[in-house]
Amino acid sequence: MAFFINDKEFENQGEFTKYGRGCATKIPTPIEILRVDEEISSNKSRRSLFSQLSIEVRFHHVTYGAKGLITKSQRKKQIDLLNQAFAGANLKFKYSESKVQFIDNQSWYFMGHGSAAEREAKTLLGTDSKRYLNFYTGGLVSGLLGWATFPFDLSGDPILDGVVMLDESLPGGDAAPYNLGMTGVHEVGHWLGLYHTFQGGCDGIGDHVHDTPAHSAANYGKPQLDQAHNACIVGENAPINNYMNYVDDEWMNELTPEQEARVKEQIMMYRTGLLNT
Ligand code: ARG
Ligand code: ZN
Ligand code: CA
Repeated sequence: MAFFINDKEFENQGEFTKYGRGCATKIPTPIEILRVDEEISSNKSRRSLFSQLSIEVRFHHVTYGAKGLITKSQRKKQIDLLNQAFAGANLKFKYSESKVQFIDNQSWYFMGHGSAAEREAKTLLGTDSKRYLNFYTGGLVSGLLGWATFPFDLSGDPILDGVVMLDESLPGGDAAPYNLGMTGVHEVGHWLGLYHTFQGGCDGIGDHVHDTPAHSAANYGKPQLDQAHNACIVGENAPINNYMNYVDDEWMNELTPEQEARVKEQIMMYRTGLLNT
């Protein structure tokens, strides 16, 4: 059913850190990709986009003893980063401290993508995913930074909807160079319908976003423009600062206008419950 990033893909990346395999968000299948594109184009004329939308985040922190105790200041910083990143898509994120949940559970704490633990935890902790962004944190199976569900999967499996984050990847965590909160932004990007900028490599239409230059593989670390040699078209540069690439957190600072447009389209198509919250 789901297609996962396989290790082969990463074998070509040369050196990778402890978190080099950090992505567990599934790769959409060709059929899913086509269906989404088809729905976007057939709905376009009939839809009006919002001018401003406020999204309420529900934090659910799975802990294991003293591990995973995310603080209020970390939540606030994570929300600030989401607000900066998605301002151009006219989104505003908010949350309420009184709705934050902590639960101590060892097997949930170490949950993997697609695991029984994930489904159990989400069944108990998740709140109405049509209206809220469920934001889970935990220790996760080793090596993962996080994963997200796509908008087109909401109606078929509302329980699993949301983002799951390595606790130490939140701002101030230990997962350097992935501890400034950009994994949160990246996963919320998936949750809003964005693919990796390197999706599909140089074949087809890549990430289905016109103003992110296609590139053959993920970029890692802090690549300089003159080292970003994997753009598919000569003369273009890989989007080395894009949130949907794999560079270090401190290197991530960009969403393009077409990515912002796609986010709005995806909300109007698959996440309309957010509009009535
Ligand atoms: N690899 C993870 C995913 O695709 C997240 C990568 C986040 N990268 C980062 N620099 N924070 O779901
Ligand atoms: Zn990803
Ligand atoms: Ca592109």
